[in-house]
Amino acid sequence: MANNRIDLLIHNIGTLITMQGNRETRKGSEMSEVAAVRRGAVAIRDGIIAAAGPEDEVLAQIGGLPVERKHDAEGRLVTPGLIDPHTHLVHGGSREHELDLKLKGVSYLEILAQGGGILSTVRSTRQATEEELYSKAKQSLDTMLSLGVTTAEAKSGYGLTLEDELKQLRVARRLNQEHPVDLVSTFMGAHMVPEEYKGRSGEFVRLVIEQMLPEVKRQGLAEFCDVFCEHGVFSVEESEQILLAAKEMGFGLKIHADEIEPMGGAQLAGKLGCISAEHLIAASDEGLEAMRQAGVVAVCLPATSFNLRLKQHARARRMIEMGLAVALSTDYNPGSSPTESLQLVMTLGCLNLGMTPEEVLTAVTINAAHAIGKADTVGSLEAGKQADLVIFKADKLAYLPYHFGINHVHTVLKRGNMVVS
Ligand code: NIG
Ligand code: FE
Repeated sequence: MANNRIDLLIHNIGTLITMQGNRETRKGSEMSEVAAVRRGAVAIRDGIIAAAGPEDEVLAQIGGLPVERKHDAEGRLVTPGLIDPHTHLVHGGSREHELDLKLKGVSYLEILAQGGGILSTVRSTRQATEEELYSKAKQSLDTMLSLGVTTAEAKSGYGLTLEDELKQLRVARRLNQEHPVDLVSTFMGAHMVPEEYKGRSGEFVRLVIEQMLPEVKRQGLAEFCDVFCEHGVFSVEESEQILLAAKEMGFGLKIHADEIEPMGGAQLAGKLGCISAEHLIAASDEGLEAMRQAGVVAVCLPATSFNLRLKQHARARRMIEMGLAVALSTDYNPGSSPTESLQLVMTLGCLNLGMTPEEVLTAVTINAAHAIGKADTVGSLEAGKQADLVIFKADKLAYLPYHFGINHVHTVLKRGNMVVS
């Protein structure tokens, strides 16, 4: 690797937000410390950041090295590439027919209990070929990238048979290899009890533990295991069984916890040392305290509470006051959150969760990276990390959540390559 040159120098950055200074999760009040500099620059070599910070300092650091190419950011805002730490990217079909039910006041769990909801996407996903799932998920990933996302997590959980779960996970693996966006895979075979196991959830839990988890592990198809812990889905006891088995097999743990009813999922996340717990709309103070003590990242999904027309949202302000690390995500899926837009989520983070623009950016960069175990390579702009960054058509951070419902992206760089411009 030649060290005697810089491949690309991005200069004349109006506001550069690096998120430098702390490789741990940003907890509580630290979430406001975004390390913003006026007139910044980023120097890139071999897809890795060589230096990032005030332009004069970056120029001094790279000294007299030849610069192959310069890019003038023309005073724009630059941030780390956005990270979406919770998506159900790979699935078949769509569920726009549920909109009418929702408008008539039928709730998410009622639709599910009638055999719709997740179960309808399970039917579409089982019917779809691997190629069909790939091309649909690729389109969504293209959309995410165009909106500034450079790393995302992708869950299985719409197959619910060993073969159909493996099919979804293979699609995520292929996308990770072929698409500029880096994908982190999560096995979520315990997303729902499938129709053929109705009333026999214990047997399905055994299938997940004894057949699915070992095979997913053997094929190296997922880093994490997630469970939907909710009334009418998996109980706290069943979730614990599955997650403990996954932990023993070496998976990192995640949990959809206390989304609609306060079940004690957040407490379980603390007890098991999950890397993250998701949703948390109904999580109690005790649950949040258990998460704080165990260092579990709270992943809030405000597009989901918005789309489910819930009156209640995750208590992000309380979480931050308590000293938790909060991340934000789209929860992109065909039912509770049919949107790929993390920029919209940033607005909802401000308006519905009461977070500041600085907290929101922390939540979709460094804390999101921690939520998927990738903070050593992405999530901030500092020497040694991947050169994943976004140039926005804005000059101030607050402009992004303020002017909502549009795409602010000007240019996206992934590993130093301009992948959107
Ligand atoms: O995170 N809550 C469970 N799973 C997804 C929704 C899946 C679906 O409705 O298809 C979620 O909201
Ligand atoms: Fe989800």
